[in-house]
Amino acid sequence: MSHFWSSSGLDLHLDLQATAKRRSGLESALRAAIQDGRLPAGTLLPSTRGLARDLGLSRGTVTAAYNQLVEEGFLATRPGSGFTVTELPSRASVTTASPSASPRIRHDLRPGLPDVSAFPTGAWLAATRRVLTGARPEIFAAGDPQGRIELRRALAGYLGRTRGVVATPDRIVITSGYHQGVTLLSGVLAGRGITSAALEDPGHNVYRQAIQRGGLATVPLPVDQQGARVDTVPPGAGAVFLTPSHQYPTGVPLHPSRRQTVCAWARSTGGVVIEDDYDGEYRYDRRPIGALQGIAPDHVVYCGTASKTLGPALRLAWMVLPPHLVPDLVRAKQDADLFTETLNQLVLAELISGYAYDRHIRAARLRYRRRRMLLLDRVAACPGITVHGVPAGLHSLLTLPTMGPTEAELLDRCTEQGLGIRGLTELHHNPDDRPQGLLVGFAAASERAYPAALDALFTVLVSAYT
Ligand SMILES: Cc1ncc(COP(=O)(O)O)c(C=O)c1O
Repeated sequence: MSHFWSSSGLDLHLDLQATAKRRSGLESALRAAIQDGRLPAGTLLPSTRGLARDLGLSRGTVTAAYNQLVEEGFLATRPGSGFTVTELPSRASVTTASPSASPRIRHDLRPGLPDVSAFPTGAWLAATRRVLTGARPEIFAAGDPQGRIELRRALAGYLGRTRGVVATPDRIVITSGYHQGVTLLSGVLAGRGITSAALEDPGHNVYRQAIQRGGLATVPLPVDQQGARVDTVPPGAGAVFLTPSHQYPTGVPLHPSRRQTVCAWARSTGGVVIEDDYDGEYRYDRRPIGALQGIAPDHVVYCGTASKTLGPALRLAWMVLPPHLVPDLVRAKQDADLFTETLNQLVLAELISGYAYDRHIRAARLRYRRRRMLLLDRVAACPGITVHGVPAGLHSLLTLPTMGPTEAELLDRCTEQGLGIRGLTELHHNPDDRPQGLLVGFAAASERAYPAALDALFTVLVSAYT
């Protein structure tokens, strides 16, 4: 027999055995709910009077059952504050010990993450208040698979102004992160008969897998000092995925002549170029170079994300598509999950329209430029280590002296020091015999924590190579 109590504002489905005695039945049901985690530590139970009324028991029966569970250590009580569920040692160890738990990161130098401790909470709260104050009820109803028009309008203006993207709201589709966008787009391209795509080598392995899951075979496109070798796209490839502003992970920008080459390839073959502008806002020596999409808007899909400017928790990204791809992508998005959550889209639109987004990025750019300089100063004092890429983005690639520990050994030593950092090898399509290196993210740590993170890294590097 199941009961649902709702007194004290707390709802719980409780399995009471019809055959059990009333008091022992209630005790067993509560014990089971605590043990299987339905009643987590800290939960305040309903008052004895309220629960007795809901379950049709006497108040004395409920009080006796509660007291029994206090005796057994499942509940705690203090005069005047009711009964709460305790943290049992056995339960604590079950929830914290997971076989796949990654080692704790004390010093966060992971590439690709912004400093989320600088999230613009005040501006976000103010924008949320503006969105919700006097909001029409329809914003709480089912959303648009293409994305809220307010956000698409705001992005069209912002991307044109800051990145030179040719964007109109009807060309934009909002997705739950680039990860979802790239998966859906790969499915759409596969549905149009494209079987394989050329991807930068090295490149981000997570997105390579997403593209493969979307239905495309991937072929490697080598990367040199001028970016991806777009002159080597194999004849069968119908799409090319690039990070032209700041190649991930080497950091080189795509050379202007190669930008022209890949656009000419798309025009002449009908192929599609996908531009992942994941950190295009961050260039420290001069203004960011404009998006590739601006050269050939009918052949390039421009992809941007809030993951590097605000934080990956939002899962908000956008694609600016050639018009002929929009209906298929919107259909794929609808089939995948109907639409991206609406309220944060509206808040981001408000943030962009009121220029708080620009202000936040400008402040972050100043902080990250300083941090990158600190990193370079430390590298300069460590002979044999070389930094690659232009001053841009949220990470730098360091290549290692040939004599000394391997990348894997170095990563082990970093882990021992509690350093969160990434190796280069796993980003190669074929990791055997490829250059080794470390990707150092200079944005992820908070301002206060960053110097200590650098100290920890260079303690490892200096002891390895001197
Ligand atoms: C190369 C690259 N592209 C795109 C993204 C953005 O991904 P998402 O929007 O799914 O968080 C990232 C984030 O780590 C990235 O490293």
